[in-house]
Amino acid sequence: MPVRLVFLGPPGAGKGTQARILEQRFGVKQISSGDLLRANLAQGTELGRQAEQYMRRGELVPDSLVVAMIDRELQQHSGAFVIDGFPRTVAQAEALDRLLDEHGWPLDAAIHFQADRETLIARLSARWTNPRNGRTYNTLTNPPRVPGIDDEDGGPLVQREDDQPDTLAKRLEVFELQTQPVIEYYRKAGKLVEVDALASVDAVAARINKATGATASSEAR
Ligand code: AP5
Repeated sequence: MPVRLVFLGPPGAGKGTQARILEQRFGVKQISSGDLLRANLAQGTELGRQAEQYMRRGELVPDSLVVAMIDRELQQHSGAFVIDGFPRTVAQAEALDRLLDEHGWPLDAAIHFQADRETLIARLSARWTNPRNGRTYNTLTNPPRVPGIDDEDGGPLVQREDDQPDTLAKRLEVFELQTQPVIEYYRKAGKLVEVDALASVDAVAARINKATGATASSEAR
């Protein structure tokens, strides 16, 4: 049986890090709303143009744009995925339920990454990203071998513009106001799994694995 998860949590909680681990270890496709939006921005698409002003301010991109983007992405997969960074509003969660119903793909779990504000700010201040594939490093806990250079492709690493203090503060506020209700939505649906995101990367991966183990160890498509 394929695994179908959503990853919820504030900026810097480690959603992208864990989604990439699931993809590498188990072939579960990572669908990252933030990476997709940044790719659209970089390619200068109409969606990127429409999303840009919101992302620069640390606000959410309108639901209609993001839901259509995730719908297009789901069409390209056949039932095993982890959606990282979506849904972020109750309207997005309801839309996702409708899309998954249409496909006949019930969600296995919504993983909630819990972390305190101080840790999130420290992590994001030290995050460096490979813009070509989304891989992240952390100068404090997981530095690249050569500062500013990706270990694998040898290309430059960058710091995200929206990790600057003012924009980050806005993203944290938006999470509290608009995404906390999504956590309650999945709690009521009996799908919520809480994860202590302050633990080490390996410990968080083990927790997720335990919660979804029956499916993650099976064949992902
Ligand atoms: P998005 O790209 O989704 O950003 P985010 O949710 O704010 O999350 P981040 O990517 O900042 O953090 P993460 O939790 O993935 O942490 P990471 O693994 O990198 O969204 C960006 C923007 O796009 C939004 O502001 C919005 O405008 C728009 N957008 C996206 N989705 C949308 C939606 N659904 N609706 C509307 N708008 C949307 O880890 C962080 C750092 O910590 C790294 O350096 C990492 O190495 C390190 N680290 C990770 N885990 C650990 C650990 N366990 N211990 C120590 N260090 C760790």
